[in-house]
Amino acid sequence: MLFATRTLAAASARAFSTSAAQNAAKVAVLGAAGGIGQPLSLLLKANPAISHLSLYDLFNTPGVAADLSHINTPAKVTGFLPDNEGLKQTLEGAQIVVIPAGVPRKPGMSRDDLFNTNAGIVRDLATACAQYCPKAHVLVIANPVNSTVPIVAEVFKKHNVFDPRRVFGVTTLDVVRASRFVSENQDTNPADTNITVVGGHSGVTIIPLFSQTPGLKLNESDLKALTHRIQYGGDEVVKAKNGGGSATLSMAYAGARFTNSLLDATVNGKKGIIEPTYVKSDVLAKEGVEYFSTKVELGPNGVEKIHGLGELSAHEQALLKEAIPELKKNIQKGYDFAHKTE
Ligand code: NAI
Repeated sequence: MLFATRTLAAASARAFSTSAAQNAAKVAVLGAAGGIGQPLSLLLKANPAISHLSLYDLFNTPGVAADLSHINTPAKVTGFLPDNEGLKQTLEGAQIVVIPAGVPRKPGMSRDDLFNTNAGIVRDLATACAQYCPKAHVLVIANPVNSTVPIVAEVFKKHNVFDPRRVFGVTTLDVVRASRFVSENQDTNPADTNITVVGGHSGVTIIPLFSQTPGLKLNESDLKALTHRIQYGGDEVVKAKNGGGSATLSMAYAGARFTNSLLDATVNGKKGIIEPTYVKSDVLAKEGVEYFSTKVELGPNGVEKIHGLGELSAHEQALLKEAIPELKKNIQKGYDFAHKTE
């Protein structure tokens, strides 16, 4: 009986690895040795839809890769440094590239304060993606996301490889936080507490749409407090880490959730997968906002359908009004940076 069970298990493992190998994807993580990069890579190693997890950073990636490679899931893990064309080797053949490379905030800093350092890092990594994996889906975690996503898009346009369906700003952490904070307030299970969050990924550009959650009734003071907490939740972590950086573990969870959803849509062929994400969007085209996060249905080529804003309460309309000029400024800043060295 024991033998039969083992034989069955071995056979199904073989069948599993054959089908996984046929459909699975190479996923690259740039900035993989950092605070987000390491736990994100750990979570991705568990996904059987990944055949090859390719890690890149300025230091320590061979060690991280060797460590992860002992986990008994199908993905092969490799780690590269800048020498020996490490970035090229990391990116060639990648179907998904996740970018958490860049400096995090310290107490008192806004995400925009990171621009001067991170804009150049993202531009250079995007240039490498355009050269070595021009058809990959690029998932930008590096802040300020409102500006770094337009930088990736402009770099890709310069190389004639821009496909708006394949460039994403990862705003999942805002949705994860909203779900958690509201479930604490309402004493509900976070797994069943879905809050739509639209806009961008910083301060006033983060817009929770509580009115769109059926059955959720918040009094005035909870509405204000929860809105503020979702917009500035990242500051709680920055303050608590006291100079040690910003959210890494919750961000790794959120980044893995988004990457896994994209793998479900692209590799596993699942339909109806919806994640909020900051993409090139027509939702606020009339207001001149080129990039915006709403719920997005993911498909084999990335963005399949961008959902609209839906109905907004007066409170939410006011939040949107406040977000628009800030978002436009952030987007323009990314655009200008990408073009200033032309
Ligand atoms: P970290 O400093 O711990 O790690 C960043 C890693 O990037 C380091 O290992 C560093 O060596 C690497 N790196 C720097 N330049 C690089 C380059 N040119 N090529 C490859 N790797 C490079 O920072 P952490 O905490 O992991 O944060 C990373 C970024 O993610 C920050 O910009 C942070 O603001 C952002 N972030 C975004 C969130 C979101 O919701 N989208 C949430 C939390 C953080």
